[in-house]
Amino acid sequence: MAGVPVAFDSIERVRAADAVGQRVHLRGWVHRSRSSGGILFLTLRDRTGTVPVTIRKDAIGSERFQEAEHVQLEGAVTLSGVVAEDPRAPGGREVRADQFEVVHAGEPFPIFKGQTEEFLLDKRHLAIRSQEFVHIFRAKAALLAASREFLAQEHVLEVTPPIITGTAAEGGAEAFEFDYFGRPGFLAQTAQLYLEAMLFPHERVYAVTPSFRAEKSRTPRHLTEYTHLEVELAWFDLEELLGFTERMFVSVLHALAERCPEDLRAVGRDPAELTRLTAPFDRISYEAAIEQLKRQGFPVEWGSDLGTAEERALTLERTSPLFVVNFPVELKAFYMLRTPDNPKTVEAADLLAPEGYGEIVGASCREVDIDRLTERIRAVGANLADYEWYLDLRRHGSVPHAGFGTGIERIMRWVTRREHIRDTTPFPRTPARHTP
Ligand code: 4AD
Ligand code: MG
Repeated sequence: MAGVPVAFDSIERVRAADAVGQRVHLRGWVHRSRSSGGILFLTLRDRTGTVPVTIRKDAIGSERFQEAEHVQLEGAVTLSGVVAEDPRAPGGREVRADQFEVVHAGEPFPIFKGQTEEFLLDKRHLAIRSQEFVHIFRAKAALLAASREFLAQEHVLEVTPPIITGTAAEGGAEAFEFDYFGRPGFLAQTAQLYLEAMLFPHERVYAVTPSFRAEKSRTPRHLTEYTHLEVELAWFDLEELLGFTERMFVSVLHALAERCPEDLRAVGRDPAELTRLTAPFDRISYEAAIEQLKRQGFPVEWGSDLGTAEERALTLERTSPLFVVNFPVELKAFYMLRTPDNPKTVEAADLLAPEGYGEIVGASCREVDIDRLTERIRAVGANLADYEWYLDLRRHGSVPHAGFGTGIERIMRWVTRREHIRDTTPFPRTPARHTP
């Protein structure tokens, strides 16, 4: 290969119908390596997958062979060879290499089987090379792409709200505060209030932004930084909002099953389970949920929040998501609209994932009346002056509107059946960790 420019193939070329007997030029990283009796057995990896490669000492010469033997796991190489059938190889094919170049032999790779979770988190920047993470992050990309496609079809405009804010929108206690040139600044917990402002010129808007929650609780479903997809829709009531939300989920999850079946299977999700999902999703009132939980022996009463255990009990046996609607006013944020015929509840819903994975969506209609909104801001003990700009939105053409937010990692945790949400994001941020 020396000196001659080569057009490289991707490993997926090896799997093509007409590949057997053809020469391929590959480049990538050494995924596995074993040498025995003058033959080196490598597994090569690139973005399209892995392929077994055999290199015979007599095919490349003993000097090159020795070099090849010294390439570490995750070392980088280029090679050229002929595709051959091999019933013993995974996928039934291998590449018999007769040219081989070391790009970077590398140091001994520190990650191998049997290491502790903590060590793997310390070495996360290397651990993300595993096939398991490749599958998860490819599926996550498909989930985001399909969401954007659905929203574009529905004429919802993508906008770019700020991350640096002057107030804590979802509740002061869980906001990350920092010094913003001598004044308090907060990392956004939600883009919602800004999306509401942008709704007046655009009617339908959404954003995908990092949201930050300084929740100290260490749970398998909380990150301190997560990917928040939020949608805000003018003129929508609760029923229309839930209809939109379930249509989006069905469309996006069907697309995921269609585009990434192999990635899903590899992480333990049968794509048919997603394809089977249909709208409408079941709905249960908060009140009925409390009654059901009481019957199941939970020490809850009207006004109790639904925690991890309660959400799990409500959905463990389900195969499709469940909306819980009409929560008590006191449990929810200040901006939510009261239920027209019941002043004790709000026009809000949480969507719970099936199989016990818990809340994946928070949705509500927003209060439009400036007096009731002011009263609610006071009631939750927030500073009215901080919300002056938001109250302006209720002074100029205030209209009914509604929206929702969903944590992409929460969806991924369910879809990829992960025990812990951190394995749905490459560099997880939790109370215990903000490096690497
Ligand atoms: O229910 P939440 O707090 O609602 C809001 O922030 C609204 N302002 C959204 C809106 O209407 N625009 O958060 C929305 C979703 C949750 O349902 C959950 O999926 C996810 O964000 N989420 C988290 N994901 C990972 N880690 C955390 N700590 C999360 N907190 C919320
Ligand atoms: Mg919520």
